[in-house]
Amino acid sequence: MLGKSICGQVEKVQFQPFSTILSGCGAVRHFFAEETVGSARLSTIMAASHPAHAPHSTASVASIAEARTALLKRAARDAMDYLEGVHARSVVPTAKAVAALSALRGPLPPGPTSPEAVLHLLDTYGSPGTVANGGGRYFGFVNGGCVPAAHAAAWLASAWDQNAAFFVQSPTAITLEEIALDWVRELFRLPQGTGGAVVTGATMANFSALAAARHALLARAGWDVEADGLFGAPEITVVVGEEVHPSLLKALGLLGLGRKRVVRVPVDGQGRMRADALPHLDAQTILCLQAGNVNTGAFDPAAAICPAARSAEAWIHVDGAFGLWATASPEYRKLTKGFELADSWATDGHKWPNIGYDCGIALVKDPDALRAAMSIRASYLAVGNLREPTDYNPELSRRARGVELWAGLRSLGRSGMAEIVERTCSHAWRFAAGLKAAGFQVLNDVVLNQVLVSFGTPEMTLATIARLQAEGTCWCGSTVWQGQTAMRISVSSWATTTEDVDLSLAAMLKAAQA
Ligand SMILES: Cc1ncc(COP(=O)(O)O)c(C=O)c1O
Repeated sequence: MLGKSICGQVEKVQFQPFSTILSGCGAVRHFFAEETVGSARLSTIMAASHPAHAPHSTASVASIAEARTALLKRAARDAMDYLEGVHARSVVPTAKAVAALSALRGPLPPGPTSPEAVLHLLDTYGSPGTVANGGGRYFGFVNGGCVPAAHAAAWLASAWDQNAAFFVQSPTAITLEEIALDWVRELFRLPQGTGGAVVTGATMANFSALAAARHALLARAGWDVEADGLFGAPEITVVVGEEVHPSLLKALGLLGLGRKRVVRVPVDGQGRMRADALPHLDAQTILCLQAGNVNTGAFDPAAAICPAARSAEAWIHVDGAFGLWATASPEYRKLTKGFELADSWATDGHKWPNIGYDCGIALVKDPDALRAAMSIRASYLAVGNLREPTDYNPELSRRARGVELWAGLRSLGRSGMAEIVERTCSHAWRFAAGLKAAGFQVLNDVVLNQVLVSFGTPEMTLATIARLQAEGTCWCGSTVWQGQTAMRISVSSWATTTEDVDLSLAAMLKAAQA
């Protein structure tokens, strides 16, 4: 059995006699040893012959299936042990656990390693080296956790191993993806007929939606950008807020629209685009709005901007990586007013809905524009009359992400999604109130799930963050907000409890005093 300390550090490992589990599976010969992790490699595990890693051998189908079942049961048990400990352990891995990852290095072995030994290496060295963002006290970036239904669905989907490119490759995966996309559209109150794609994250969702925008605007000007590229194409103006997320600029760069070739609109003290400072917009403009600033959580004033931008026939794109999910909550919905008037939207399933990594969603009001940007044809790519995901995605072969998205949303329902938004926002308020009460400056208006706090000078703030990160109760990163160094607290996990907030607050205050 694995012996784990509270911080998840594996201290000693006694190997299970897999030979027992696999007895009757043919000529299986394993050697196991008891070792202290970190002091020696698992080179003492050897599998001279094993049906599950040598399926081409003469092993029977039954023996392969039996060995695989035993292996998957073991993987499930390791995963469950991991999850049972994840809330109590240190959020960061110990230095010893990180150093021990070197045991996974080395040249590619000349021959096979038994799957059990591979799994054992992963759990022994990999699990302790992870960051516990599945627990309730990880407040870095905008990282969500994974709701149980999405987690379980991911396991099943992994067994299905579907290629979700074409309906013929997986009716189940494609059907679930279509349903989930429509649920997201409904939650965001977007127009009927809006289409989309399930991609890896908001970066690729921005990329996909902006590819549709690029197509539509250049097609209006009589230019086929997919066929002829951008050399010699009519000009497109891209307008962004000064606080645009860098991933959107990256997407523009990938599309040949340029990371720097943008018109930047000044913002206010919360990072909101100033409606009174918008440049001229026309039918050759892509206007990129933001629903949820990564630092402050603030929303661009879409209701003030979108009607005029629509009249000017500009393409309005919304980066709502996490903020758009606020639409699910009757309490927070007012923040997202006006964004429904856009032409395209990018968001993440792996942020606020806690669908697990990775899951991004691109939505486009005119799905034909997305299709024109993405679809490919070849004689062997047999397509029917159905919606083929590959027509709307940057990839051809792709993981069936829609399965987890469907499962997570199905389990949450409308009220569950609203509850995650409301609960995490109220946790953010609790953090802000506790930090203010202790005399520290909260730099943003806490309107959502994001809090920025200064612990004094930049050096004092950075030293506090370093001590907090090393201590391990919780994890927060740093940022510079409009010239001021701050600690970011992003409460994005369904798993965070009030007790987690109070424990973390206490750790923050201790780190600030040290
Ligand atoms: C507003 C915004 N846009 C885009 C992204 C990028 O998302 P992803 O990491 O899923 O690509 C983020 C990430 O935090 C974000 O906050």
